[in-house]
Amino acid sequence: MQPRPLEPIPELRTERLRLRAPDLEDAEALAAIYGDPEVGRYLGFRLIHRTEQMREKLARDLEAVRRGEGMRWVLCAHADAAPAGYVGIFSWSQRDRRAEVGYVVARELWGQGVMKELFPALLHFGFGRMGLHRLEARVDSRNGASLRVLLRAGFQVEGVLREHHVAEPEGFGDTTLLALLEGEWRRGYSHT
Ligand SMILES: CC(C)(COP(=O)(O)OP(=O)(O)OC[C@H]1O[C@@H](n2cnc3c(N)ncnc32)[C@H](O)[C@@H]1OP(=O)(O)O)[C@@H](O)C(=O)NCCC(=O)NCCS
Repeated sequence: MQPRPLEPIPELRTERLRLRAPDLEDAEALAAIYGDPEVGRYLGFRLIHRTEQMREKLARDLEAVRRGEGMRWVLCAHADAAPAGYVGIFSWSQRDRRAEVGYVVARELWGQGVMKELFPALLHFGFGRMGLHRLEARVDSRNGASLRVLLRAGFQVEGVLREHHVAEPEGFGDTTLLALLEGEWRRGYSHT
């Protein structure tokens, strides 16, 4: 089955926030966000703080959107297009109606309920517009904030992938696999 793209990338709005289509010109601001060591701690993108590498990532991500393999958004305020984060639904298998969710929020906005506010809109888009049956997340098992955000959105832990990634200086770190199914989302399954 040939994947069908969902272009153009739609804008999603929540009470305080906006998810808009990314642009290659966002590379510098996003590289600054990813380059914060606290932000990058559990991401494993050690080189992405360089503008050129972020530009290449954006180009790859936008190409994947064009091929119908995912969706990507820049997080910003309603009245200001400056990037405050990057959000995606990627590794989209249209055949299996399955994808993975990922997100990065600028450190100065942490703890203000940004992901709590975005998740209902993301899930509505993923299960509604993309027609997903299953949305997965893979999280460094030490990343308490991300695990909290996902559990609160209704995701369930399905298992731990032991020593799944390099985690300097400890050696190898565990990854927790979570997922939310369409039926659970439709039944309003949520721990908010
Ligand atoms: C994960 C991340 C997106 C969360 O964003 P956020 O806007 O701060 O999320 P929210 O404010 O909506 O919710 C954070 C929740 O985690 C909790 N939390 C914060 N740090 C925590 C920790 N170390 N352990 C457990 N819970 C934690 C907060 O109390 C809050 O829960 P509450 O609303 O029940 O009080 C943000 O921390 C981030 O960008 N991290 C770096 C990138 C990253 O790791 N992305 C995820 C990759 S899988």
